[in-house]
Amino acid sequence: MNYSSFLSTISTARKANPLRLTRELEKKMSSIIMLSGGLPNADYFPMKTASVTLFDGTTIEIGESMMKRALQYSKAEGVDELLSWVEDLQLKLHNPPTAKYAPEKGQMKVVITSGSQDALSKVFHMLTDPGDNVLIDEPNYTGSVLALQPMGCNLIKVPSDQHGMIPEALNEILSQWKMDNVHKLNTRTPKFLYTVPNGGNPSGSALTAERKKEIYKLASKYNFLIIEDDPYYFLQFEKTKVPSFLSMDVDGRVIRCDTFSKTISPGMRIGFLTGPAPLIDKVIQHTQVSTGQPSTFSQILLVQLFNKWGQKGFLEHVARVEAFYKKQRDTMVAAAEKRLKDLAEWYVPNAGMFLWIKIKGVSDTYQMIKEKALERGVSFVPGCAFMFESTQPCPYVRASFSYASADQMDQGFRLLAELIKEEVK
Ligand SMILES: Cc1ncc(COP(=O)(O)O)c(C=O)c1O
Repeated sequence: MNYSSFLSTISTARKANPLRLTRELEKKMSSIIMLSGGLPNADYFPMKTASVTLFDGTTIEIGESMMKRALQYSKAEGVDELLSWVEDLQLKLHNPPTAKYAPEKGQMKVVITSGSQDALSKVFHMLTDPGDNVLIDEPNYTGSVLALQPMGCNLIKVPSDQHGMIPEALNEILSQWKMDNVHKLNTRTPKFLYTVPNGGNPSGSALTAERKKEIYKLASKYNFLIIEDDPYYFLQFEKTKVPSFLSMDVDGRVIRCDTFSKTISPGMRIGFLTGPAPLIDKVIQHTQVSTGQPSTFSQILLVQLFNKWGQKGFLEHVARVEAFYKKQRDTMVAAAEKRLKDLAEWYVPNAGMFLWIKIKGVSDTYQMIKEKALERGVSFVPGCAFMFESTQPCPYVRASFSYASADQMDQGFRLLAELIKEEVK
């Protein structure tokens, strides 16, 4: 793959910051005379140790020297222990074909990020110049749509249903580009495809393995990258997880965004990005001149937690989280059946946190949700918030089953039913 042909002008111009801590220098820090770094003196940081109690009553400790490290600057790509841990996790869960490639051929590389939003923003900046074509399904995660739109790229809508993007429709769109132009930069074939493969936010859609394979084939044929934004990977409710795009990536064209936000804590702001080394290196260069690094403190806390749990303990934890959301999903679907049966339609999401409800007989839910629902004491998100043209009428509503109790879901949908009936009168 010619990775440089995918880079935006600004990313092409980026250089590594020679003043940032490197992996090699960090390893030598305790054994050499350090006159190079601009590190503040850790002896004057006010916090000494920490002990964090887990819900099972056990604790994780951050001792004095670990605390000095946790409060200090660290490498842009993440602290070594956490990097190795997530690398092992990716190998176990996705076994990417690129794991053994040479770096320049797109070897799998992992970098820690300040959550997926940070990763996505950096990936979009890395790849997008004004006028570039981007393949994306609608509705989609507002955080990505709003990050992409101001870049002046052309968002090409790929039709989708509850099983995600429809490969035949994607093929139809792509067939307008002539095959002999595909590897030339100035023909503006789409540079990348962005999708949320599991528990789409807001639609709850989930791509099947068959569709992923079809889409991957098209990506190889038309030479575009795939950005797989998968924060709900661990909230898949079926027994077996659908294979990821990363697991199929023989060409080295997949960039995968993972996050601990949905399973451990969004407040810690830690995620990880996996993709071909030449592209991940560009993201690291961006981090060096923007956020500098993800929080060292959050990373060290996670390292201590994972040291205690091991991979097995982590997977047991996420299985418990998944079981909780599955129960919540079932409770919300039951409440919808009871209160909204003839007033709305939806499909049962098999991943994520959201029910995407189409209201019958109401062409636009904005007013009803933004004003009347709040006055009655219930909040939803009007569907237009997830559309590329957010001012266009939209008959959908997003309800989240992450937080509410069974009673709140029931009462919330009772109020929604009242509003719909008043609206269609
Ligand atoms: C599809 C999608 N991508 C990315 C994010 C951002 O997650 P993070 O908290 O890791 O930044 C979210 C958060 O809701 C999301 O739904």
